[in-house]
Amino acid sequence: MKAIQMSDFGGPEVLHIAETDTPTYKSNEVLVKVEACGINRADSLQRMGMYPPPPGASAILGLEVSGTIVAMGAMVDKWKIGDRICVLIDGGAYAEFVQVHEDMIIPLIDDMSFEEGAAIPEVFLTAFQSLYWLAKLKSDETILVHAGASGVGTAAIQLAKLLNAKVVATASSGKHNICIKQGADVVIDYKTTSFKEEITNQGLKIDVILDFIAGGYFSDNLDILSLDGRMVMLAALGGLKAENPNVGQIVWKRLTVMGSTLRSRSSAYKIALTNEFVETIYPAFKNGKLSPVIHQIFDWTQVSKAHRMIDRNENAGKLILKIS
Ligand SMILES: NC(=O)c1ccc[n+]([C@@H]2O[C@H](COP(=O)([O-])OP(=O)(O)OC[C@H]3O[C@@H](n4cnc5c(N)ncnc54)[C@H](OP(=O)(O)O)[C@@H]3O)[C@@H](O)[C@H]2O)c1
Repeated sequence: MKAIQMSDFGGPEVLHIAETDTPTYKSNEVLVKVEACGINRADSLQRMGMYPPPPGASAILGLEVSGTIVAMGAMVDKWKIGDRICVLIDGGAYAEFVQVHEDMIIPLIDDMSFEEGAAIPEVFLTAFQSLYWLAKLKSDETILVHAGASGVGTAAIQLAKLLNAKVVATASSGKHNICIKQGADVVIDYKTTSFKEEITNQGLKIDVILDFIAGGYFSDNLDILSLDGRMVMLAALGGLKAENPNVGQIVWKRLTVMGSTLRSRSSAYKIALTNEFVETIYPAFKNGKLSPVIHQIFDWTQVSKAHRMIDRNENAGKLILKIS
């Protein structure tokens, strides 16, 4: 099969299409002919040599695909050849074929395109895990979603509104409309305003924070969380060192600070997460209450261009590769 390979670790220019072995599949796995895959920050970090795949995962980039089942192991009983699906994987998405465990699979909704399907697994499962499993966001609460126009951020805003929670988002100025379109009640331009000052001035009570920035945000995040507040940290786009945080607040405001990486979770955890997502949340894609947010679709020959775009923070929502 063909797959996107790396000539070395480095910039987007290291990516190119080349021949490699088609994956084999076990008795409880299916082989998927990939039609589209999502691009994620993790792919960019892996390309730069800063995020090695977990043990046993493919060295090929990519964490989510949509496509059609073309072969299956003897024990598979939930799916049939020709089924249209999307799925979260540990790696190997930038390729013509991937093998996946049958219990991880999400069926594509009838009128959903492959490109839309590829835009769902990574960001919606991450946001679902963060808001529903980790932070346990409730309907009468307010969540602050940093990087609100990111792939995970747009999914988190939609999922919070599904719960009827109030949403405050931060984003650069050109991306406010996309946050509002997802349902954000308040959007703050973090580049021209201090989000802490803005939230304090508006008298907003923040119960939950979804943070990808860390670094200089950590201290302000602790300052604005209310009693019994929860913060889920998923990345450190703003740096690894916090600036002078008053950690006493974790004690006297009874705060919970959590970190997570979905990719390194066990298969059993990811299967349980996917199953609950499919049963409780996925139907909302059928009635239009949830929808994947796609910034741009690229043919996979344009992968370097797409990676350049994500490296420059130019996307609002997902970048998708069409496997031609
Ligand atoms: N831990 C996990 O399980 C998990 C799972 C999925 C993703 N992630 C991580 O979550 C983050 C978001 O992923 P994604 O794919 O949704 O991202 P994305 O679509 O590429 O969007 C990221 C956005 O974050 C904003 N940003 C970047 N650097 C920033 C900074 N220093 N300060 C403030 N905002 C900044 C930019 O938007 P603006 O123009 O608004 O600045 C950028 O477009 C990534 O770091 C990714 O690695 C973690």
